[in-house]
Amino acid sequence: MFNISMIGTGYVGLVSGTCLAEIGHHVTCVDNQTQKIQMLKKGKIPIYEPGLEDLIHKNMKAKRLSFSTSISESISTADFVFIAVGTPPRSDGSADLSYVENVAREIATHLKKYIVIVEKSTVPVETCEWIKKTILRYHKGNTPFDVVSNPEFLREGSAVNDFLRPDRIIVGAESQKARELMQKLYGPLKSPMVFTDPKSSELIKHASNSFLATKISYINAVARLCEKVGANVEEVAEGMGFDKRIARSFLNAGCGFGGFCFPKDLEAFLWISKKLGEDFHLLESVKKINEEQKIHFVHKIEQALWILQGKTIGLLGLAFKPNTDDMRLAPSIDIIHMLQERGARIQVYDPIAMPQAKKVLKNIKYCKSLYEVTKDADCLALVTDWDEFKEMDLKRVKSLMKHPTIVDGRNIFNLDRMKKLGFSYHSIGRKSV
Ligand code: UDX
Repeated sequence: MFNISMIGTGYVGLVSGTCLAEIGHHVTCVDNQTQKIQMLKKGKIPIYEPGLEDLIHKNMKAKRLSFSTSISESISTADFVFIAVGTPPRSDGSADLSYVENVAREIATHLKKYIVIVEKSTVPVETCEWIKKTILRYHKGNTPFDVVSNPEFLREGSAVNDFLRPDRIIVGAESQKARELMQKLYGPLKSPMVFTDPKSSELIKHASNSFLATKISYINAVARLCEKVGANVEEVAEGMGFDKRIARSFLNAGCGFGGFCFPKDLEAFLWISKKLGEDFHLLESVKKINEEQKIHFVHKIEQALWILQGKTIGLLGLAFKPNTDDMRLAPSIDIIHMLQERGARIQVYDPIAMPQAKKVLKNIKYCKSLYEVTKDADCLALVTDWDEFKEMDLKRVKSLMKHPTIVDGRNIFNLDRMKKLGFSYHSIGRKSV
């Protein structure tokens, strides 16, 4: 097995480091945030990710996983050093690569033996090349090294499973030696490995995420046509999905996609295209449709209630998707701001994300249960499809609401059932009942 230095303990670094320890390697996760490392050393994790905490405790106990603030110490014995630091978006949509460059300089300074530097963070194409140039520039000596691209495809809420059972592992490497070492590193996963050059590997990540976002905006645009003619977008998606070339997944119409990946990666891919002199206008439309989808959802609430001024709207779900507490670019943020601009009173519940939401969403009532949200509400707006909401007691909800109006942004409920229960029920791409 190998010694690994994982630099960066965000979603990607912490999950990747822990899972690499789980498959038998010795991993030191490194971060320059001392407080975060102290928390992790006590076995407390800063993010909500199902299954991660147990895996961290198990591997710390097995002495395969440790935490440090020192890059130099951790790379001195490492066979691989992973760069998993943040690449946050800048105002023009480009990725801020300053943290990546800082790590590359640190590695160059402390390089003493051959090492494989693994670019794990989502980065624009050609970043691998820049990491290599940076190390050559700052390294005093001629210690050999390789830089490889190894993008992640982890979904929040299922990140551990996605790492341990990936559809594929992408490796962009120039040297045969680096390819063989990466093959050994990931061998225990027994998953398909795709070897290519670094640039192609970097593009696979942005192209994949942008394609998934395109699928979502595509079905959201089809949903609007379905609403116009009284068709059912769920059944349209079902029919489309039987074609293996299309596939059913990521064709769920809704109130828009959020999270830190799709919006950020779309912007970054657009920026790279423009920098390369290509106008990737398809992605402009993907973005536009997604922004419009949130407005469309608010208009549905207006169509149901007419004037929103002074009305009480119960909103269920704040996180950008179920099984996470992540509020970054969650559709709920824009939706709530639009409802507040129209003078509505908002009461909300989310099983996990409320502590994070309180940092960004003010002047709303945070409730202790989904039923408290429905109490005296003029309308119930469903924004995140948590399982808990799918199981709610609709008869009880009806008795608690001022009147039984639901606007469902994730098509959680069956139309016939809602009609039978006497709800005024409005959803995405389906007839209102
Ligand atoms: C995504 C990619 O799926 C993952 O491969 C990549 O590594 C990181 O970005 P993530 O952002 O965690 O993962 O969540 P995902 O499950 O992809 O959902 C993203 C957003 O799209 C959510 O807001 C979700 O509600 C929305 N979505 C997803 C839809 O609106 N419709 C769908 O059919 C699927």
